[in-house]
Amino acid sequence: MPSINENFLKLEKNYLFINIAKKVNAYKEAHPDADIIRMGIGDVTLPIAKCVVDAMKKGADEMGVKETFRGYEDSGTGYDFLKEAVSGYYKSFGVDVAVDEIRINDGAKSDCGNIVDIFGNDNVVLITDPAYPVYVDTNLMSGRKVIYADSTEENGFAAMPDDSVHADLIYLCSPNNPTGSAYTKEQLKAWIDYAIKNNAIIIYDAAYEAFITDEAVPRSIFAVEGSRQCAIEMCSLSKTAGFTGMRCGYTVIPNELKVTASDGTEVSISQLWGRREGSKFNGVSYPVQCAAAAVFTEEGQKQTKENIKYYQENAKIIASALDELGIKYTGGKNSPYIWLKCPGNMGSWEFFDFLLEKANVVGTPGAGFGKNGEGWFRLTAFGDRERTKEAMERIKALKF
Ligand code: MLT
Repeated sequence: MPSINENFLKLEKNYLFINIAKKVNAYKEAHPDADIIRMGIGDVTLPIAKCVVDAMKKGADEMGVKETFRGYEDSGTGYDFLKEAVSGYYKSFGVDVAVDEIRINDGAKSDCGNIVDIFGNDNVVLITDPAYPVYVDTNLMSGRKVIYADSTEENGFAAMPDDSVHADLIYLCSPNNPTGSAYTKEQLKAWIDYAIKNNAIIIYDAAYEAFITDEAVPRSIFAVEGSRQCAIEMCSLSKTAGFTGMRCGYTVIPNELKVTASDGTEVSISQLWGRREGSKFNGVSYPVQCAAAAVFTEEGQKQTKENIKYYQENAKIIASALDELGIKYTGGKNSPYIWLKCPGNMGSWEFFDFLLEKANVVGTPGAGFGKNGEGWFRLTAFGDRERTKEAMERIKALKF
C-alpha cells in the first residue's frame, strides 16, 4: 500500500471556496425559492472584451488549417508575441521587464502554488495573515514551517516586516486579497530591504494590479528599487480581463535572481523554475495565448478597462452602503474586494450564516483567510450592477 503525503491531513478538509459553495448549495436545496446573490468567490461576471474573443477565435481557426496549425510551443514559456505584449504592458507603467524574464502560465494561482517545488522544505516561510489560502496550503502540503506577519485593523491590514524574525520566503499580495489594502512604494521598499537583509525571496502576487487608482501604490514590485535582487512576481488576466474561465497569466523572474546551493554553486531561480516547468507543464493553449495578447492591444486595454471601471463602480456602491450603516471596512479603492468588520460583534462564519439566511447574500468569512480574519468578512465587487445594488439594499434593511 502506498503511503500518502500526510501533510495533506493537516489542511482544512476543503478549500475555502469549495466549502462555501457546499454550504450555499445545501441552503439552496433546503430553500429552492431563495433568490441568492453571490458575492463570495472573486469570480468575474462581465463577458470578455470582443476584440479578445475575436483573437481567440482566429487562433482556434488557425489550429484547423495545416499551414497555421501549432503543436507544442518550443520554449514552454509562452509565445514571444504574448511575452512581448506583456513586456510592453509593464513599460506602460514605467517598469522594465525583459521578454526572457516572462513566463506565461495558466493563472497566478498555479504558479503561486507550484513555485514551492523549487525551494527546500527547510525554508521558513513568512505569510501575511489574513492571506489568499493558496500560499499557506501549498507550503503546508510540503511540510514547511510557516510563520505569519499580522495584518490587523491597527496597521490598516498592511503587515510590515519585523526585523527580529528571520524568513527565507515571503509571500506578499498587493492589492491584497482578501483585505483590499495596498502597499505604498515606501512600504514595499521596507519589505525589499528586509528580504535583502535576510537573503530571502519575495513571492509577489500582483493579480489585482489593474484595480489600483492611487498613484502612491506601485503596479508591480519591480517598480521599487532593489526588487530585482529578491523578488518574483505573479500576475493574472483572470480579474483584469475576465479570464477566470480561460486561464492565462504570467510570472516574472529577474535574470539576475540567484541563490547559493549547499555546495556553494550559484543557481539561477529562473533556470530552476524553467527546469520544473519543462518537466511538469506544457504551457497554455495557443488560442488562449492569442486572446491574452489581444488584451494588451490598444483596443483590448480600452475594452478591459471599461469592465474594470464597472467593477470599481460596484465597489463604490458597496462602500457607500457600508458608510450609511456605519460599518468599518478597508479596500474597494485599489481593489475589487471590500473587507468589512462583521456588525454586532458577530464571528465571520456566524455573519456568513446570518447574511445567507436573512438576506440571501453570500460573502466570504474572513476567518477562512487566517486568524486575523476572524470577525471580518469579504464582499466582492465582481457582481452584476443591479444584483450588487439589490444585495446592498437587502443588507441595509437588516437589524444587527
Ligand atoms: C478568491 O475569490 O479569492 C479567488 O479568486 C478564488 C480562487 O482563485 O481560488
